Amino acid sequence: MDSWKRFMELIELKDICKTYRLGDIDVPVLKGVSLQIARGEMIALMGASGSGKSTLMNILGCLDRPTSGEYWLDGCDVSALPADERAQLRNQKFGFVFQNFNLLPRTSAMDNVAMPLSYTAGHLSERQARRQAREVLERLGLGDRLHHHPSQLSGGQQQRVAIARALVNHPPLIFADEPTGNLDSRTSTEVLRLFQQLNAQGGITIIIITHDATVARSARRTICIHDGLIEDGAACAPSDTGPEAATPPAAPPSPAELRGIR
Ligand SMILES: Nc1ncnc2c1ncn2[C@@H]1O[C@H](COP(=O)(O)OP(=O)(O)OP(=O)(O)O)[C@@H](O)[C@H]1O
Ligand SMILES: [Mg+2]
Repeated sequence: MDSWKRFMELIELKDICKTYRLGDIDVPVLKGVSLQIARGEMIALMGASGSGKSTLMNILGCLDRPTSGEYWLDGCDVSALPADERAQLRNQKFGFVFQNFNLLPRTSAMDNVAMPLSYTAGHLSERQARRQAREVLERLGLGDRLHHHPSQLSGGQQQRVAIARALVNHPPLIFADEPTGNLDSRTSTEVLRLFQQLNAQGGITIIIITHDATVARSARRTICIHDGLIEDGAACAPSDTGPEAATPPAAPPSPAELRGIR
C-alpha cells in the first residue's frame, strides 16, 4: 500500500513558508503549507485575493523557491534547486496557462506553440517543431487558425493556443492561473471542458487557480488557502455550495465537439 501510494504521489509539500522582503519589512505570505497531490488529479486552488494562490503556484511550478520547507516532486526534493536546474525541470514537467494568455503578439499561433520546443527539443528541426505544434493545435480544434496572430483570434481561441503551447512538451502537470478570468461564461465552460478532457483522457495532472465556484466545481478536489495556510477540504468548498455543488463534472467534450469550439 505504501509503495503504491508513493508511486501515485506526484507532489508533497511539507511546511512550506514564503516570506517576501520589502525594504526592511518581512511580508509572510505562506505560513506552513503542507499538501499532497497524486498523479492524475484535477484540483482547484481557491482563496481570497492576496491569500497567496499565485505565490503557491510559483513555488509548485518551480518559478520561485520557498523561504523554508520541503517540496518533493516525483520523489525528489526540489525546494533548493538552483535557477538553471529549476528551469530545466519546468521545461520537462510543467505547462503554464495564464489569465491574459501571454502569447507573443506578432507571431502566428503555430509559432507561439512551437516556441517552447526551441528550449527543450533542440534536436528537432524548425520544420519538425512546427509540425508538432500544428498537431497539437489541430487536436484542440484550431487547425484552421494556424497562421493567425493573437489579435486575429477570439479570447477562447487565444486561450486554446496558450493551452496548446503548454501541452507541446507533453508535460505531466499543467498549472492554470485564472485561465477563464478573461473569458465569457460560454467560452469558460468550453475551456474547462478541454481541461477535463486532458485530465480524464490524457491523464495530465491539472491545478487551476480560481475565484470562481463554477470553475472549482469542474475540478475533482478543491484546496483552499486562507491566511497563508491550507484549509480543511470540507471547510473550503466553493462558496455557493448547495445541491449543485455535488454535481459531478460535465462529461469531457468529444473531438468533434472540440473542433466545433470557436
Ligand atoms: N514579490 C513580492 N514582494 C512582496 N510581496 C508580494 C510579492 N508578491 C506577492 N506579494 C504579496 O503576497 C500576497 C499574496 O500574493 P499572491 O499574488 O500570491 O495572491 P493571490 O492569492 O494570487 O491573489 P489574486 O487572487 O489577487 O491573484 C499579497 O499580499 C501580495 O501583496
Ligand atoms: Mg494570483
